[in-house]
Amino acid sequence: MSSDTAQLIKEKLDIVDFLRPYVQLKPAGKNMKACCPFHKEKTPSFMVSPERQSWHCFGACNEGGDIIKFLMKYENLEFYDALKVLAEKAGVDIKTSGNRDFKSYNSLYAVMEAAKNFFRSNLVKSDLVRNYLRERGLKDETVQEFEIGFAADGSDILTHHLLKLGYNILDIEKAGLAIKTERGTYWDRFRGRIMFPIYNHFGKVVAFTGRILPGNNNPNVGKYVNSPETPVFQKSKILYGFHRTKSDIREAKTAVLVEGQMDFLMVWQDGIKNAVATSGTALTQDHLAVLRRLADEVVLSFDADLAGQIAAERSIDLAGAHDFAVKLLVIEDAKFKDPADVVREQPGKIKDLLGGAKSAMDYYFYKYFNNASTDIKAKKQNLRVVLAKIKNLSSPIERSHWLNQLSKIARIDERVLAEEMEILTPAGVAEAIVPAGAPAVSVSQKLSRRELISQRLLGVMLHLQNDMQTIEDHLKYFPEQYLTIYRDLLLNKGVNVSSDLGDFMNSISLRFSFENQDFDVENLKKEMRNLLRELRVEYLKDKRQEISDLIKILEGEGDENKLQAAMREFANISKELHNA
Ligand code: UTP
Ligand code: MN
Repeated sequence: MSSDTAQLIKEKLDIVDFLRPYVQLKPAGKNMKACCPFHKEKTPSFMVSPERQSWHCFGACNEGGDIIKFLMKYENLEFYDALKVLAEKAGVDIKTSGNRDFKSYNSLYAVMEAAKNFFRSNLVKSDLVRNYLRERGLKDETVQEFEIGFAADGSDILTHHLLKLGYNILDIEKAGLAIKTERGTYWDRFRGRIMFPIYNHFGKVVAFTGRILPGNNNPNVGKYVNSPETPVFQKSKILYGFHRTKSDIREAKTAVLVEGQMDFLMVWQDGIKNAVATSGTALTQDHLAVLRRLADEVVLSFDADLAGQIAAERSIDLAGAHDFAVKLLVIEDAKFKDPADVVREQPGKIKDLLGGAKSAMDYYFYKYFNNASTDIKAKKQNLRVVLAKIKNLSSPIERSHWLNQLSKIARIDERVLAEEMEILTPAGVAEAIVPAGAPAVSVSQKLSRRELISQRLLGVMLHLQNDMQTIEDHLKYFPEQYLTIYRDLLLNKGVNVSSDLGDFMNSISLRFSFENQDFDVENLKKEMRNLLRELRVEYLKDKRQEISDLIKILEGEGDENKLQAAMREFANISKELHNA
């Protein structure tokens, strides 16, 4: 992390000022709230902490971070690029800050660029590979345009070349181009492969994927080898081709999504300029968030095989949850495995298929109700599956339309279907994630009463800031993992907390602002007193349970003295509880 520069920038830019053009902030206690810019919502769940200069979305995203993380997510930038934008805004000169990490980012880009040039020069020399690409239907212009190259088969040809050009071996390794062996020597990661550069969304080469040569039937090597994740490459974020197609996607308000480089290049070549591809990974929320800012519709095109169908279904649900209108380009002709095949055999045809793309729901109805021979049990199962898909639709009008269709097909009353749908879990909805930085305690569901009270209390206290003294005589009632937090609050007023703990307290404070409507100080004080009393009651209940368990054991052991003592304690606690 470029921590010095990042710190400097964060000190100069106020998160609240910075966020104003992006979201409409309203006060919520000592924090602020807004509708989340990363997903569609009507009630605000995007919280901002001016005090800690951070944000957190308690809605579908359940994610948060600082100003840098916000910009990275909003503009889909890598850390370094987000920092550059912010530095300019803050008036921090990152060139003269002499930061090591900036240099290292730049050298990663540089080494990737050099590798790409080397692969391209190899391709010019290899008739075998050039002919193969032509045979696949790729035009020379496309090969040029997307800078396809070739990594010859040898142990360290690229590494050797890059070293000769003066690149540092550590950068070559960090870029994922060389792999260090146990003996300390370096091997090329890509050997005997057709090389597709993968660009980030600004057009810089940040990774490669390498396809095996035809005729290599070694079952021990993958058809494609991908670059590992590096500081400049996160595969779950990058869409192949996006740097060239984003303006077409914006214009068409539609993105055509295919699997892999070959499909992308072929449909692009065949005139579909608003395409993108996932590369070496399934479709992710990050991919969709990027597209959602430009497009309202995605057309998915997956391989016709079973794996492709499973991927299609998963992607439909995920895209639906991001409020996309989803369509499917279905290749019905069994001759063709994927869009690349179609383009090679019948240029121009893919546009027709695109025009006839099925809506996701049509596809599901087709897929699940087409087969007349299925038995009753399977039918019921299919009904449930489709109901869950309908539940996933964000538009009530569409939901009602499809329920009506389903009712006709299944010959079941719509109201019955609607009831059944209510109790189903929607498909594709992101699972809640426990916020990062929560050490021993978490803000997840399965918490004891005492933990819940402790968290709520912490929220109230972080908003009151003073009045810590009342806490002191209640310390022993807190669950153990909260003691550190409360002691710290008492002693340091929360100033010197570790960053993990700070993150946790921050998420509690934001959650409190998120859940609360009333921030009146007197009311908060009243709530605090109630919570403290409840905390003590819960503590006593827990304690009484412990002693009651102990009594059972002692009864079995027959130790009369101990038993008497335990019973006395039990009576005392019961009395305390009664008076509490
Ligand atoms: P496919 O197996 O469908 O390959 O994988 P393809 O794109 O049709 O390639 P050709 O037509 O055989 O040349 C789709 C995508 O999945 C990733 C690659 O990004 C590929 O483009 N993949 C596939 C891998 O990352 N590793 C593999 O071993 C296979
Ligand atoms: Mn293919």
